[in-house]
Amino acid sequence: MIYGHSIESNIRKSLADCVFFHSVEYHRCLTSTSDRAKELAQDGGAEGTVILAGTQTAGRGRMGRHFYSPEGSGLYMSILLRPDELRNDPGLLTACGAVAVWQAIYKLANVKTDIKWVNDLYYQQKKLCGILAEGQFNNDGTLAYVILGIGINITRPEHGYDPEIDDKTIALHDFILDRQIEYSALCAAVTEAFGDIYNKLPNLDFLDIYRKQSCVLGQNITYLRDGQLHQGKAIAIDDHARLVIDKGECRKEILSSGEISLVRAAL
Ligand code: BTN
Repeated sequence: MIYGHSIESNIRKSLADCVFFHSVEYHRCLTSTSDRAKELAQDGGAEGTVILAGTQTAGRGRMGRHFYSPEGSGLYMSILLRPDELRNDPGLLTACGAVAVWQAIYKLANVKTDIKWVNDLYYQQKKLCGILAEGQFNNDGTLAYVILGIGINITRPEHGYDPEIDDKTIALHDFILDRQIEYSALCAAVTEAFGDIYNKLPNLDFLDIYRKQSCVLGQNITYLRDGQLHQGKAIAIDDHARLVIDKGECRKEILSSGEISLVRAAL
């Protein structure tokens, strides 16, 4: 991976032609790219601002979890969005992010990854990418801004990932062996794909990929609601990227957020 003084200018060059891109900041180390993006958002920062870091000391994931962000191993990026009324749907924005990363990896490496509802990308049943959308609402319920945080594992760190996640985590270069995935090219491909999908909203064509590449649809799953474990079969993803679950006996449930686990059949 390339690092050094020229990284920000390399990235700026790669991003220059991306639709919707406004400006980029690269930091060697941040608590979280989303913290920095939030500061900028509160200072009136423009949509399309991209924040990158070589490492994060307090990278965060969904459900208050830590997002392990080892130096020089991944793309840790946050994009500042100011959605208008056509784009005022946080669940859909997260799905846009998942499809954008899927398309970027397909473009650069010709590999089809799996999208695990709601916003993770997996390969060989191991997590490759996590996405976290955090929003600030106006008093009238519209979104003032959204920070879309994306973490993609590019290269396995020399000493592996945190032992708790090491055997459940995969990096692009664990399975893309015939080419180097360049940091700035990946960043540009994600930004370009995201901008393209975002600009076309409320066109929902991107959901075709979200559904087709889902590793959840048609599967038996478990999920937590109100502290209770539930199960059912994931049967559809609706036009708000919500998961429709068949609970049997003609009962259905629709999840708009949360965490699900696949029930794998014993061999
Ligand atoms: C998850 O797996 O639950 C979501 C992980 C999101 C991680 C990215 S890395 C860039 C941005 N900054 C953060 O602190 N989190 C997101």
